[in-house]
Parts: sequence; C-alpha cells; structure tokens
Amino acid sequence: MLRIAPSVLSADFGGLAEAVGEVATEADWLHIDVMDGHFVPNLTIGPPVVESLRRHTGLFFDCHLMMTNPGDYLEAFKKAGADGCSVHVEVGGTSELLRSCRDLGLNVGLAVNPETPAEAVEPFLELADLVLCMTVHPGFGGQEFMHEVLPKIEHLRAELDRRNLPAELQVDGGIDERTAPLVVAAGARVLVAGSAVFGDERPWEAIRRIRSAGTAALP
Ligand code: DX5
Ligand code: ZN
Repeated sequence: MLRIAPSVLSADFGGLAEAVGEVATEADWLHIDVMDGHFVPNLTIGPPVVESLRRHTGLFFDCHLMMTNPGDYLEAFKKAGADGCSVHVEVGGTSELLRSCRDLGLNVGLAVNPETPAEAVEPFLELADLVLCMTVHPGFGGQEFMHEVLPKIEHLRAELDRRNLPAELQVDGGIDERTAPLVVAAGARVLVAGSAVFGDERPWEAIRRIRSAGTAALP
C-alpha cells in the first residue's frame, strides 16, 4: 500500500485551510514543513499554524521538523495537533529525540538529508515509525529530484526488511508522476509531493496521478 502526503509548503499560505480542503479526500497524510531559518535557510510554519489547520481537517498531520533544536518544540507541536514529527539525524541527540516523540504519543519520524549516508540512521531504525529520506536538499519546494539518492532508498528498504522492522519509508523532494515509480521501485511507500500537487490547478487529480504511477511500480 502506498500513502501520498501532499506538502503544504507549495500551497497558498494565504488560503491554507482552503488548500487543505482541496486535497482532503485524496490525501493519506498532510505533510507540514517546519523550517527554523537555521537548520535550513528558510522560515515557514510553527505550532500556531498547525493548531489553526487542525480545526479544519482530520487528516493525519505529518510534521517534518527542519530545525536545529526540534526537542524544544515537540510538545508544542503535539499540543497543536501534530500526529507525527520527523527530526533530522544531522542535528544529533537522535535516540533522545526519538524517545521524546514516542513518550509524547507522536508517530516517530527520522529524517536524513541527501548527502548523509544510510549508516547514520541505521543505529536508530528500531526506534522509528517512519524513515524520511530526502531526495532534494531541504529548505525549498520545487527542486529537481536527486536520482543519486535511489541507492540509499534501496539500501534502507533492504535493511528494514532484513531486520523485519515495521518503519515506513518516506521520500520527500521532487516527487511527481515521473519520479514516483522510481522511488516506489526502490522501496518507498510514503510519497511527499509539494509542487506537483499544489502547483496543479486540480491538486486532487495530481494526487491521483502520482498514486497510480507509484502503484504501478509496487512489487
Ligand atoms: C523541502 C521540503 C519538502 C518540499 C517538497 O525541504 O521538505 O517537503 O515541500 O516539495 P517538492 O515536492 O516541490 O519538491
Ligand atoms: Zn518535507
């Protein structure tokens, strides 16, 4: 089974609730990109926006924390209505951060940048519900998919299967109907798509196209 998670980063921030309404019936999760202007050179969404959106939809909120100090905000995101939070392995303190997510009752996500090797996340796979493999450099929507990350996705899929771990493998960056089959064939099962969804006049149809392109590549 495949999950599609539209990223609101590419939606109109002046009409977020409306944008979410447009994907509500087709999306499995809503991906919310949180950027702190430090871990990445961009600033986006914080807990108050998550709290406001929570009043408009029951969708699963998959919060991607591109932050240097995610531990300082996990509780605030939980209180605001986040269902899951992903923290980056590059910020360190990973075991503790993942345990904090778990203790708060969040779906526990571990994110890894394109240039960071799989070995960096391997010690923590048992602690995660979700492994988020970035397929662009984090910080901005609308970037080109990095094909060179495909072997890492294959490697992590194989490692999760070998250890018989239930964590889901998610990809984020440059996903559209052309790249969806590549990442699904490599083993990803949760696909984040920002510009391909919200850049379309009919975001719900874009989700359907990505889903059917990806589903065709399932083993
Ligand atoms: C990038 C974000 C992504 C972004 C993806 O730093 O983590 O979630 O929204 O956007 P697209 O799908 O346009 O590459
Ligand atoms: Zn993201």
